[in-house]
Amino acid sequence: MQPLNMSLMEGSVGVQDLILLEPLEEASLLKNLQLRFENKEVYTYIGNVVISVNPYQQLPIYGPEFIAKYRDYTFYELKPHIYALANVAYQSLRDRDRDQCILITGESGAGKTEASKLVMSYVAAVCGKGEQVNSVKEQLLQSNPVLEAFGNAKTIRNNNSSRFGKYMDIEFDFKGSPLGGVITNYLLEKSRVVKQLKGERNFHIFYQLLAGADAELLKALKLERDISGYSYLKQKVSRVDGIDDASNFKAVQNAMTVIGFSKEEIQQVLEVIALVLKLGNVEMTDEFQADGIPGSAIRDGRGVQEIGKIVGLKSEDLERALCSRTMETAKEKVVTVLNVIQAQYARDALAKNIYSRLFDWLIHRINESIKVSTGERKKVMGVLDIYGFEILENNSFEQFVINYCNEKLQQVFIELTLKEEQEEYKREGIPWTNVDYFDNGIICNLIEHNQRGILAMLDEECLRPGVVSDSTFLAKLNQLFSKHSHYESKVTQNAQRQYDHSMGLNCFRIYHYAGKVMYNVTGFIDKNNDLLFRDLSRAMWKARHPLLRSLFSEGDPKQASLKRPPTAGSQFKSSVAILMKSLYSKNPNYIRCIKPNEYQQRGQFSSELVAVQVRYLGLLENVRVRRAGYAYRQGYKSFLERYRLLSQSTWPHWNKGDREGVEKVLGELSLSSEELAFGKTKVFIRSPKTLFYLEEQRRLRLQQLATLIQKIYRGWRCRTHYQQMRKSQILISAWFRGNRQKKHYGKMKASAVLIQAFVRGWKARKNYRKYFRSGAALTLADFIYKSIAQKFLLGLKNNLPSANVLDRRWPAAPYKCFDRANQDLRQLYHQWKCKKFLDQLSPKQVQMLKEKLCASELFKGKKASYPQSVPIPFRGDYIGLQGNPKLQKLKGREEGPVLVAETVKKVNRGNGKTSTRILLLTKRHVILTDTKKYQAKIVIGLNSVAGVSVTSFQDGLFSLHLSEPSSGDSKGDILLVSDHVVELLTKMYQAVLDATQRQLSVTVTEKFSVRFKESNVAVKVVQGSGSGGKSKLICKKKGNHCLEVTVQ
Ligand SMILES: Nc1ncnc2c1ncn2[C@@H]1O[C@H](COP(=O)(O)OP(=O)(O)OP(=O)(O)O)[C@@H](O)[C@H]1O
Ligand SMILES: [Mg+2]
Repeated sequence: MQPLNMSLMEGSVGVQDLILLEPLEEASLLKNLQLRFENKEVYTYIGNVVISVNPYQQLPIYGPEFIAKYRDYTFYELKPHIYALANVAYQSLRDRDRDQCILITGESGAGKTEASKLVMSYVAAVCGKGEQVNSVKEQLLQSNPVLEAFGNAKTIRNNNSSRFGKYMDIEFDFKGSPLGGVITNYLLEKSRVVKQLKGERNFHIFYQLLAGADAELLKALKLERDISGYSYLKQKVSRVDGIDDASNFKAVQNAMTVIGFSKEEIQQVLEVIALVLKLGNVEMTDEFQADGIPGSAIRDGRGVQEIGKIVGLKSEDLERALCSRTMETAKEKVVTVLNVIQAQYARDALAKNIYSRLFDWLIHRINESIKVSTGERKKVMGVLDIYGFEILENNSFEQFVINYCNEKLQQVFIELTLKEEQEEYKREGIPWTNVDYFDNGIICNLIEHNQRGILAMLDEECLRPGVVSDSTFLAKLNQLFSKHSHYESKVTQNAQRQYDHSMGLNCFRIYHYAGKVMYNVTGFIDKNNDLLFRDLSRAMWKARHPLLRSLFSEGDPKQASLKRPPTAGSQFKSSVAILMKSLYSKNPNYIRCIKPNEYQQRGQFSSELVAVQVRYLGLLENVRVRRAGYAYRQGYKSFLERYRLLSQSTWPHWNKGDREGVEKVLGELSLSSEELAFGKTKVFIRSPKTLFYLEEQRRLRLQQLATLIQKIYRGWRCRTHYQQMRKSQILISAWFRGNRQKKHYGKMKASAVLIQAFVRGWKARKNYRKYFRSGAALTLADFIYKSIAQKFLLGLKNNLPSANVLDRRWPAAPYKCFDRANQDLRQLYHQWKCKKFLDQLSPKQVQMLKEKLCASELFKGKKASYPQSVPIPFRGDYIGLQGNPKLQKLKGREEGPVLVAETVKKVNRGNGKTSTRILLLTKRHVILTDTKKYQAKIVIGLNSVAGVSVTSFQDGLFSLHLSEPSSGDSKGDILLVSDHVVELLTKMYQAVLDATQRQLSVTVTEKFSVRFKESNVAVKVVQGSGSGGKSKLICKKKGNHCLEVTVQ
């Protein structure tokens, strides 16, 4: 077993849990409490019971920070605290579905109310959140200041003493969020309204109203701020240390608004409070009747009038009600006057009644606001804060019932923690040595026994006809309880010959669990009767004030009943019985408050005072029982249900008995055998540590199981998801494939059908071709083509251009397909035109054109003078050869005509000078003669002319290159200048061709060499700067072998 985290407990003062106390004696217990108290450790445990010693100072151990801490730790892990107890109770309520009650007991001033507020604030802080929940919480918390203002007062023992008992059920839903609540109140000490002991105050609200109300409100309520003006506040303890009435008044008003009181309601409540205060100031005076019987009247009518104004009541009605009494029997009505004492009594009774009814109404109204409207099943946490045990100097009926109530609570404690526990061990067969304790059943019985109890006697006295007084009641008690060990009075003492001068004649004493208390019987009968004269309730009912009226509904004559209302004692007894029943049905949690001193002083620890409390609270017995006993027990079934998950054998299934199951689970955890006991129906666990260990194991196991469940769930979810995806994927791919195949098939089918169609069509066409006009299209096309061609040709014929050879125009083809034909036609037409032209030419013209053609072949584009020669017909004879026989002779015997006869210039190769010659070209020779002698100077056979060189310029210079000289007299090549060089050389070319079938080489060049006898001369022709006109040649010899010719 893991040790518990005790680190937070280290350095603790004394022992935190009295179970660990050694030696276990009263002295050591007190010492421990004192040590802790002095070290400001005011809380100590006895097991799960919290002992709280009132520190009378604010300790820094409260607030959100501490709440958060206690929320996260288990009971024993932190220092003892009320928060820890509240936490256990709340968790048990929420998690184990057990209704809880928190019983806070202790003397007046021990800190019960403060403890109850701590519990409530803790629960409010840890339970659920949310708008709705927060408003419920706020309402529940805010009920405290309201109830404290109206129900608490300064007493000698406690500056803020609760003068009523309060039990509050806080109701939760299944999640542990508060839904609302119900408050039950027990017997308000209403006598305080009219009378307070010395040094005590009336209820806080009176002082709060006077101190806190603004002037306007006071005026409206017809009040004055000075408390000395009010006889009900006559003790004049106006201020209490640590209480700020004015600011508390604001807080109360605010709290009432939060709870849901309307503005009008708050105002009406304050008006009723003012009414009570004013009523106290109504003074009576003697007034004698005509018959001498003493009566009473109101001394100063102003107060009554003001009351009338505040609550809408006629002052005469009020006066009548206060000063007289109407006796009603079945037959008649008798009005009797009241004397001053009686009238004052009536006034005070009215004031007390108004106040206590107002208080009841407040509780009722708060309950209206906080009640749970939903019908769902609720879990309940009850917090009981009842007035503490009181021993005053003069104890009256109020103290009697208060102490009775405390006695009953002690009984609950004894029953549940001491008696019941021990009996349970016996029942369950657990070995047990009895622990002695004082059972206060006998005292409870003394008070509450139905026939022979003090309360029963009191009721009997109240109802008994005849003379009834407090002393007859006492006499009855003396008679009945003369032998009772917890009862004594002067009479019983006398009987036993005891002498006790502290015992008053009108008193009886009860040996309460918490001490002996002597009660004075004076007023018991009256207070128990708690009767209000009908005149008063009628008068109140007549008021126009809605709240006041509703408080006295029995004043309504229609509702008037002659039945006696139940007595205060019996009412209290029955409400205590109901409370006890409710407490027994819940899981109790105890806070036992201890008062360290009588003076409300911080740091003072009175051992005697505490010892008394420790004794009567039975703390020592409590420790003994706890020590010997077991901290925790539970039925086998529910225990197994909670912890069976801790063992593999019992989880998840267990078929055998519950006890075996529990033994199995605990056996596997190997807990020490001292820690456990197996009863007949329950298992017992000795120390809380073991329980916490079990809880911790359970928590860990729950985490494991949660993880397991998560794991399985996640696995399952992933698997199903995967399977779904897989299925979907298969489905999608099936559809996709199907679709693809369908499409493919469709295409194939369509193709097959198409092919089929073609094949069928083809076959059909084949079969039926013979029936078709198969050549029709061709024929038609042919026809159309022909007709177009015909049209084209005819158009051409009609549109032929002129027959002029030089006219190159030709119409364009109308269609592209005729382009070739059109070109051919154009060519043909041109050739035809040329032929026609040629046909009409004479042979001479033909000859001339041939020559021109030859000239063009030789010079076109080569020689600059060629273009000029084209239009000029070749005349051949430029020197009048026909009329010159001398020259004709030069031809000799040679046949054929002279082809060219002209004057040329011969360039002297030696100096470049020129000399004129006549040149004749015949079919076989070139003959050069002198111009004067007409004698052939040079005759050159055409077959020896190897070539000719001309320049490309305008000039007429040319060189006749002769082939290798056959005879020695040849002088070599000849340089000539002719004016008709183109004609001359053309004709020479033809003559050479005709004569020798050789093509004369005609070279167009600017540089050529001319051969002399032995040497060559290079001729270089350059273009001079002159232009136009006849060309002029200037030949210059440059050295022996170079001749430069400049052409101008
Ligand atoms: N835990 C505490 N811390 C500081 N002061 C406290 C604490 N408990 C009580 N007191 C002081 O003690 C005073 C009396 O406490 P409280 O009113 O709770 O007593 P009580 O037991 O309710 O008395 P009664 O029976 O008269 O109503 C408080 O007003 C407060 O000053
Ligand atoms: Mg109190």
